[in-house]
This record gives sequence, C-alpha cells and structure tokens, in this order.
Amino acid sequence: MPNTAPSLPIFLRLSDRPVLVAGAGRIAVRRIGRLLESGARITVVAPHAHEQVRAWAEAGELVWKKREAVENDVDGYTLVFAATDDTAVNAMLAEAANKRQVLVQRADDAAASDFLVPAVVQRDALQIAISSDGQAPTLARILRTRLDAWIPRAYGDLARLAGDFRDIVKARLPRAERAGFWLRVLDGPIAEKVFTGRMADARRDLAETLEDGAQTPTPARGEVYLVGGGPGDPDLLTSRALRLIQRADVVLHDSLIAPAILDLANPDAEFIHVGKRAARHTLPQEDINELMVRLAGEGKRVLRLKGGDPFVFGRGGEEIAQLAEAGVPFQVVPGITAASGCAAYAGIPLTHRDYAQSVTFVTGHLKAGELELSWSQLAKRGQTVVFFMAVKSLPIICEKLRQHGLADDWPAALVIEGTTVRQRLVVGSLVDLPERVAAEVVEGPALLIVGEVVRLNETLGWFRPSMESESQV
Ligand SMILES: C[S@@+](CC[C@H](N)C(=O)[O-])C[C@H]1O[C@@H](n2cnc3c(N)ncnc32)[C@H](O)[C@@H]1O
Repeated sequence: MPNTAPSLPIFLRLSDRPVLVAGAGRIAVRRIGRLLESGARITVVAPHAHEQVRAWAEAGELVWKKREAVENDVDGYTLVFAATDDTAVNAMLAEAANKRQVLVQRADDAAASDFLVPAVVQRDALQIAISSDGQAPTLARILRTRLDAWIPRAYGDLARLAGDFRDIVKARLPRAERAGFWLRVLDGPIAEKVFTGRMADARRDLAETLEDGAQTPTPARGEVYLVGGGPGDPDLLTSRALRLIQRADVVLHDSLIAPAILDLANPDAEFIHVGKRAARHTLPQEDINELMVRLAGEGKRVLRLKGGDPFVFGRGGEEIAQLAEAGVPFQVVPGITAASGCAAYAGIPLTHRDYAQSVTFVTGHLKAGELELSWSQLAKRGQTVVFFMAVKSLPIICEKLRQHGLADDWPAALVIEGTTVRQRLVVGSLVDLPERVAAEVVEGPALLIVGEVVRLNETLGWFRPSMESESQV
C-alpha cells in the first residue's frame, strides 16, 4: 500500500554511529561527503569505487569493503544508504534493512525509502532543510538556490554568537525571559552589527548588556538605514536592502522610489514621503536630517530609502553627517545607481576598450540657469560622460560640449525612466538630441549619456519593455 502520510522532518546526530553506504558512485560520494561532516562511522560496500571514495578510504576516513553487497551487510547499522546502480541490489538491501528495523534510503526509489535526504541551505550550525517528500526534488533544489542567495552568509556568525552566549544567558535570565531576550538580540542592532561584519562590536555589546544585568539588549535609541533603492526595477535591490526594507518601523522615501519597492516594506510601518514633488521639496534637507535623528531617538528603525545609490548625487553624505554628530547608529547600503542601471538596460556599456577608457558622472542641475562644469575635461574623446538631472539643461550641455571641441555628430542618448517598463530611449547626436527630446514628453527621471559607446546600443540593446506589464514596476 503506498505510504501517503507526510514524512517527519528531523535532524539526526550521527557522531560515531555506524552507517552503511552500498555503492560508491557519484550519488554515494555526495551522501558520504555530508555523512563525514556529521562524524558518522562509514562503511562502504562496492566492487568498484569513485576515486574520491578510494581517497577517503586510503586516508582512513571510512572503511571500503571491495565486493558486492549482501543481505547481512545491513546488520548492526543505524542507517543504510542503498545507492548502487543495480535496482535489484538496492531492493534486496531495503528489504533486509526493513526486516531488522534499520532505516534505509534507496537512491533509486524515494517512495520505497524510510527517509529522504533534503536539499540544504547551510550557514555554519544553522541549517534549513527543504523536502518535497520525494514528489519534486528539482523544485526543492530550485528553492534551495533561491534561499541560498537570499539568506545572508552572516546568519552563521549570528548562530555562533548566540551559541557562545547561550549558557551565560541561561544562567543569568529566568526561563520566561529568555525567548524575548534572544528575539531582541537576533532581530535588533546587535544582529545588524553581525550582518555588517562588526562581529567584535556585536560580541562586546552582548557581553555589556549581560554585564549590566539589563534584560533589554536593544538600547532605547533606534537606528537608521540609509539604503539605495536602485533605479526602479525592484529586482535590482540588493538582498541587504530588501531585508532592511522589511524590518523598518518608519520609511522615509523620495519620489523616485517605485511603488513596487515600497510595497515590499512592512505594511504596518509608517511611510513618510520626503522627496521632491513637482519641483518643490516636501521637506527641506535639514528637516529630513532632524526627523531621522528624532525618530531614531524614539527607538525606531528608520529606513531612509533613496533612488539609485545614496552616495551618488543623493546627498547621502549630508544625511549621515548629522546622524554621526548626534551619535545615532546607522548603516549605508549601496544601490545600483541610475548610471549603471540605465546603461545596462539601454545596452550602452559605460566603458569599452575601444571607445571609452573612463567614465565621469556629472550633475546637470542648473543653478540660477547656469551650469558651471569643467567643459574642457568633459569634452575629451575616449570617455563616457553621464549627466544626472539634465533634462532642462540638455541644450546647454550639448552646446557647451560642441564649443569645447566635440564633433556635432558625437553620440548622445537620453534614457527616460530607465529599468522600468516605461523605459524610453532617445538616441541622437550633440547637434540633434535636444530637438529629438523636445518632441517627447519627459515626466519621469532621465539620464543623459554622452560618448561613442552610445552607438553600441544598436547592436547591444536588449530591454524592450512591454507596456502591458506596467503594473509590475
Ligand atoms: C537626485 S539624482 C539621484 C541619483 C541616484 N542617487 C542614483 O544613484 O541614481 C536624480 C537623478 O537620477 C537620474 N535617475 C534616477 N533614476 C532614474 C531612472 N530610472 N531613469 C533615468 N534616470 C534616473 C535622473 O537623472 C534623476 O534626475
């Protein structure tokens, strides 16, 4: 009768337990690798062995019996892995193991196995096991890959830190308070220190908290995350940005942040729009800085979410200067700047061995109708120049570059709402781009790229968004 009951997930401690592996091919090698880590005493039975199994046997890490497996081989083992390439032998071993109440796994038949080997995401002591109960092992592996990319490596360090302090916490805190304590440590500023590589600081903070006898390891003060939200496509967020977006209590965001990115935040968080809207600031920069200091002072986790990268024309430096002065803990998470995002999605490499040996990022923002830039530097050949905030100043920029020596037909392109499904590209030359852009309605952000690399778009352009999927970004 087929077994329809779900399997029971458990983690086995096999240190010094006898485990039999029948077969010594590639599947067996994979099993043995993990079994060796678990400290099991391994015996392999197989007439021929993969070179790795032979090496392990020569190094004394396992015993290899060089012959066909027989029924009695399963006697005295805690677990049996039937991983030969002969179905009849695997079936014989499974039956023999069943008779003796020894648990068996058949590499060729999940349904006839007592246990299944899950796909595992591992961060030191922390292990996440995924199983489809034999229904779809490939799906389990796909999920494993996704989780592996998503779960920071530093979770292993966090588990180690908790392990190192486990006994001390047990001795100092009554049982009823321990779970709350660990929740605050593992999901608070101490964990953030671990995630940003400040292990020694995290260890010190945890030790001090315990020294003080305090039961609240999070200081009353909160913290600020200055996070780059990328140029628009939510898939371009970094995994650290995503984690911090999801854990913030308050989100301070610019106009450039796509709604799809804001949707990723905790819906219970407070959202404050602080960016530019219709050419006026909803909040002056000083007020934004003060607001962050005040909110963090109330113990909140404040996410300052900016378009692109916070340190590229994002005034990120000014914002954290005030935090540093006020002693508010903060971290900065880089984002994909519009320059990289737009260039990639427009098929315009910013540098190229033949056309551009350097790239310069410049602001095209007009001050009192003027643009004070080093035009003779910017008008040199062999480089790419990327102008941010340059829609209004586009005619001046093109004119100045021509006056300073670039040819009339020098290539230039405007990428409008780059990386989103509304992306548009206007390609031209210094002489005709302003006219071409004037014929367009440019409401969203736009980036000007000047240089010979622009021509490569003809062959390298790949992103042709369909407006049907507009709701996605
Ligand atoms: C205040 S700057 C912020 C730049 C941002 N920190 C970055 O690293 O991309 C805003 C300018 O970035 C450019 N920009 C941002 N997102 C863009 C996008 N999706 N498409 C085109 N340009 C973009 C535009 O030039 C816009 O005027």
